[in-house]
Amino acid sequence: MTTQLEALRTTDKYLEVQWKDDVQPSRYPYFWLRDHCHAAHSMNQETNQRQVDTFSLPVDLRAETATLAEDGNSVSIRWENEEQESIYPSSFLREMAVAGLPQSDHPKILWTAEEIADRLPKISYDDVMTGDEGLKRWVELIDYYGFAIVDNTPATPEVTEDLARRITYIRETIFGGFWDFTANQAFADSAYSTVEIGPHTDGTYSVDSPGYQMFHCLEFDGTGGESVFVDGFRVAEEIRVQDSKAFDTLTSVPVPAQYLGDGVHLRAEHPIIGLDRDGALLQIAYNNYDRAPFRLEDDQQEDFYRGLRLFNELINDRRFQLRFGLRPGTVVLFDNWRVMHARDAYQGHRRLCGAYLNKEDFLSKLSVLRRG
Ligand SMILES: [Fe+2]
Repeated sequence: MTTQLEALRTTDKYLEVQWKDDVQPSRYPYFWLRDHCHAAHSMNQETNQRQVDTFSLPVDLRAETATLAEDGNSVSIRWENEEQESIYPSSFLREMAVAGLPQSDHPKILWTAEEIADRLPKISYDDVMTGDEGLKRWVELIDYYGFAIVDNTPATPEVTEDLARRITYIRETIFGGFWDFTANQAFADSAYSTVEIGPHTDGTYSVDSPGYQMFHCLEFDGTGGESVFVDGFRVAEEIRVQDSKAFDTLTSVPVPAQYLGDGVHLRAEHPIIGLDRDGALLQIAYNNYDRAPFRLEDDQQEDFYRGLRLFNELINDRRFQLRFGLRPGTVVLFDNWRVMHARDAYQGHRRLCGAYLNKEDFLSKLSVLRRG
């Protein structure tokens, strides 16, 4: 897709542009254009912040002339009743050619257990730690697949913490920052036990659920305790195709969750399958243990349990469950807004450490590395 412009046309209300590679012209309302002017008088060139006083612009503002730069890479506009010219890079106009959220050029790769088991997204610890290329590869794998494994990592909490900090700072929660524990009852949460835990996402009771989670098993001497990962986006697509009514319920009913204990009461609501305003998958938020009491109208209540049952059946279907044993040296970092995790019961001794990262900070690092 080119960002090169071929021709311009001004109408009463719009600037119309013709692209070199496209039969479809794009058009932009004048008020919107003035509000998004890229010239130094309207946009801070260092911070990219808007400096236009949006509210002092005339609502019926019109362009006098629009001029295409010789190289086809920018447009300048002279306005009626204004001395200053506005300027727009063609790349910006292309990015804004259609209404809606900007589309990613990097579509996610959804998976079932069979599709992912023999080609696990993997990178070595040394590659991640030595240069930006390795770091970029790691965060991109996580973005595409929802998780990635870092192998040959020295099995100490210090090294593991530094690995997480390659991406961003560690999120503080009621459990602390970087955590390191063996099974005990330190917190009122099933994660601190040895029993089986079914597929879930963490922090459904948090308004801004942790974006990513990292695990590193530092010591293991026992049996069982396999880790399970389920691509929630893949399951959501399965439901969208299989049962559109259940999909509607799961995407529209806000489900409250809570953490009540240890002197705190956290509470938040999320639909189990969250969509963005264009209908694309945004966030899976599912933890049946932490669902708070709530009541719906009778028919809705029935629909809700029906949708919930289907969701629970699919995430517990072996077809969607990637299973492997976490062992010292193998770090898993996964998208907690997409991939659910679970753990089989185990006997023996296990020491696990890990961390949460915020969604926005991970995405910021990804964006910066992709821009180079
Ligand atoms: Fe968990």
